[in-house]
Amino acid sequence: MTRVFSGVKPTGHLTLGNYLGAMRRWVVEDQHRSDALFCVVDLHALTVDHDPARVRRLSRQAASLLLAAGLDPALCTVFVQSHVDEHARLSYVLECVATDGEMRRMIQYKEKAARERGGSVRLSLLTYPVLMAADILAYGTDEVPVGHDQTQHVELARDLAVRFNQRYGHTFVVPRATHPVVAARVMNLQEPESKMGKSDDTGPGIVYVLDEPDVVRKKVVRAVTDSGREVVYDREVRPGLANLLEILAACAGGEPAELAGAYDSYGALKKDVAEAVVEALRPVRKRHRELCADPGYVEGVLRDGAERARAMARPTVDAAYRAIGLLPPVNAAR
Ligand code: TYM
Repeated sequence: MTRVFSGVKPTGHLTLGNYLGAMRRWVVEDQHRSDALFCVVDLHALTVDHDPARVRRLSRQAASLLLAAGLDPALCTVFVQSHVDEHARLSYVLECVATDGEMRRMIQYKEKAARERGGSVRLSLLTYPVLMAADILAYGTDEVPVGHDQTQHVELARDLAVRFNQRYGHTFVVPRATHPVVAARVMNLQEPESKMGKSDDTGPGIVYVLDEPDVVRKKVVRAVTDSGREVVYDREVRPGLANLLEILAACAGGEPAELAGAYDSYGALKKDVAEAVVEALRPVRKRHRELCADPGYVEGVLRDGAERARAMARPTVDAAYRAIGLLPPVNAAR
């Protein structure tokens, strides 16, 4: 059976981008057709300035949102990255296969480092893609369902798997990224040239999964559209409009270009987009409220998930340790 792995980083409240670009497909498709693991990748949240209490809070919230969105622990494994030591264990070994030049070429590193304007960034921000490769390779993953922004990171995981296998013998499955047909890159409603990212603090352009319906409506109605009157789908020339059409297609079905033909004003389109988003998020918010009242359930899911994940990752990570030349621990019984 195909092995699927993906994750979400608790650096902020989850957004419509996370939901449409990744989570919804995990729920609707991946957990039903594959042997899938979904992870709250909390170690990754420590790569930028962070408040420990907030990371803990956001990790719990992300886990319950994954369940609220419809991940079913009877069908897939849901867990928290730091509960499974194999990720960090494998990451070090992969650092011995990756090069610093490769890390410095990563777009997300360059963007985040540039924002610091010459100030220093955490070393873990540079090595982050190696940890992500470890997340993926530890499980013999075939497919990694992600939004477009993660493509380069998954490519690196592929490169490291191939290089390791060539140097030290076949150990890792070579994974590939998969993307949704629409909404693989949901853009910020106020800055349609930038991705809708949970850690960028520009509230009005970001729809959060837990936003109240009226907040969603306000944000959508105020979305920046482009000059011009006609409703057409053109990502290059009319990025604001294209973003709204893609969100509508993702939430309500249809093709963005065809949907465009059904509207003769921006106002009518925005109204429908707002309602489609509100309806898509409604059941998730409702189930999240129920789960908040039952923290014991979420904890139980994460405990079982970590146990299952550990058992799956251990043999591959042990094999990588042997292959690269590390001495097996002496068996206590001998
Ligand atoms: P993160 O937490 O930024 O995002 C989680 C998932 O949501 C997708 N996504 C989007 N899709 C469409 N439009 C957007 N605006 C948008 N914003 C986010 C992301 O592509 C991702 O699929 N490095 C990863 C987390 C990670 C991971 C992994 C993923 C760590 N280890 C192993 C897969 C496999 C990240 O920061 O995702």
